[in-house]
Amino acid sequence: MNLPENEIENFIATSIMPLEGWINPDAAHVICLALNHQYSLGDFGGILEFGVWKGKLLSLLCKFRADGESVTGVDAFVGLTEAQAIHRTQEIRRNIESVCGSSEFVDIFRGRSTGYYQSPKIVMRKVISIDGGNDFLSRVGDLEYSSRFLTKYGIIIMNGVFNRFNPDSSQALFHFLASESGRDFCVVADCNNKTILCRREAHSSYYDFFQLRISRRDLPLFVRTAEKLDSFGTHYSPRIEGIPIIPFA
Ligand SMILES: C[S@@+](CC[C@H](N)C(=O)[O-])C[C@H]1O[C@@H](n2cnc3c(N)ncnc32)[C@H](O)[C@@H]1O
Repeated sequence: MNLPENEIENFIATSIMPLEGWINPDAAHVICLALNHQYSLGDFGGILEFGVWKGKLLSLLCKFRADGESVTGVDAFVGLTEAQAIHRTQEIRRNIESVCGSSEFVDIFRGRSTGYYQSPKIVMRKVISIDGGNDFLSRVGDLEYSSRFLTKYGIIIMNGVFNRFNPDSSQALFHFLASESGRDFCVVADCNNKTILCRREAHSSYYDFFQLRISRRDLPLFVRTAEKLDSFGTHYSPRIEGIPIIPFA
């Protein structure tokens, strides 16, 4: 599914923001646009989120699901008792139903992402949100897993990459981009608490799409798009005032 661009703001304000959870409205807007663009490219695949909490972002992602696409939410339900975890699962389903009318297409896997990696079922995903364990190893593990099962025009949405209180996330991103499995990937956009990655072959398509909207001022001014830099080891060089910032180089 896609959503007409002039309906996105209202959709976020009325359907997503009332839900409890962590997604900045501008970042949500950028994600909706990316998913619209992906739809126009004819990409097809499942939706996966590591770290669902009450399903705020997952509900948004489900809105862009097409018939036949599966949805999986993985959560360790950290700190919850068995009874609380069952209640949380019901809450996630209710939230998704409030946005999409149904949640029957959603599977909730209770456990750490590392447990989910062992799942024998192979599903290619058009979108993977990484918002579970935010320590270095969890993030690198989630990125490596995602790199194996992402469709051609698939996107990876990483939470909190440029959060100065948790440098593990940015360190994990740069580690991944410099690794063998990350070589095929690059960052294409960054807005508030979400950073979007895609395959290098898909980069110019997303980049041009975002640049056009930034030039028309259809996007918040603090959305950054990242140019693909072939000569730079990590393929991504964020800049402030034209000066490259190379964390953990
Ligand atoms: C910040 S919340 C996710 C927010 C959610 N994406 C939203 O839209 O509101 C982080 C979630 O990750 C879960 N979590 C923490 N470590 C995890 C791990 N290693 N594997 C899977 N889930 C994990 C927690 O139980 C928590 O529900």
